[in-house]
Amino acid sequence: MDGNGRWARNRLLPRTAGHMAGVGSVRKAVEWCARKGVKALTLFAFSSENWRRPEQEVSVLMGLFLSTLEKETRKLHENNVRLRVIGDRTAFAPELQARIAAAEKLTAGNDGLNLVIAANYGGRWDIAQAARRLAERVQGGGIRAEDINPDLFQSELCLADLPEPDLFIRTGGERRISNFLLWQLAYTELYFTATLWPDFDEQELERAIDDYAGRQRRFGHTSEQVEAWAQSAGSVSQRPLRT
Ligand code: FPP
Repeated sequence: MDGNGRWARNRLLPRTAGHMAGVGSVRKAVEWCARKGVKALTLFAFSSENWRRPEQEVSVLMGLFLSTLEKETRKLHENNVRLRVIGDRTAFAPELQARIAAAEKLTAGNDGLNLVIAANYGGRWDIAQAARRLAERVQGGGIRAEDINPDLFQSELCLADLPEPDLFIRTGGERRISNFLLWQLAYTELYFTATLWPDFDEQELERAIDDYAGRQRRFGHTSEQVEAWAQSAGSVSQRPLRT
């Protein structure tokens, strides 16, 4: 969700005003995805590197996270959204940690949109903590080192129970992954737009999805194979493409 700072600067406003406007785009994106039957939406709200920002900006971001959870959790629950937060939450204030836990508990049984907020998250952290857990399981005798393969590794990552993302969208003109879902993005289609996050609306989201729909995902297979499967009415995503 890049571009909040520039959106504010263009209006001679403090950067934090951009983050506040960014919450509006978060709301719109969540509503759109819930309405359209999207299975999972993961938003990168705060990276493990964002602590390097000025103290006042970090504090506003934490405050916005807390107030948004306070305001929106009930509505999310009413709309069958399951909310969860990935990242190292131990660095957050106890009040924020408690609010996150309460929102996750309230919405845990919902089976509509899986809304994931990545906060104090980093893809390398995710991979490192999966490696640590596997090492502990080996040490404890539960598994052998030779049992470790991509499937087992994946099962220890933050989003183990969700499908890998189909589409990655980065706003604000940057063309980097910036330590987002590093493992999970292996086969994801990447979409970059210059639109600043506070200006990102439903039309922009539809444009990204239309662009995605025009792509051919081959997962290592040939175009001919993929086209033959498409003609035989099977969905490409249902084929054993990753073998
Ligand atoms: C990046 O833009 C944006 C962030 C680091 C924060 C994103 C946070 C929100 C949209 C609001 C809070 C989110 C939730 C889920 C309640 P930038 O600041 O790097 O902008 P710039 O590239 O223009 O400087």
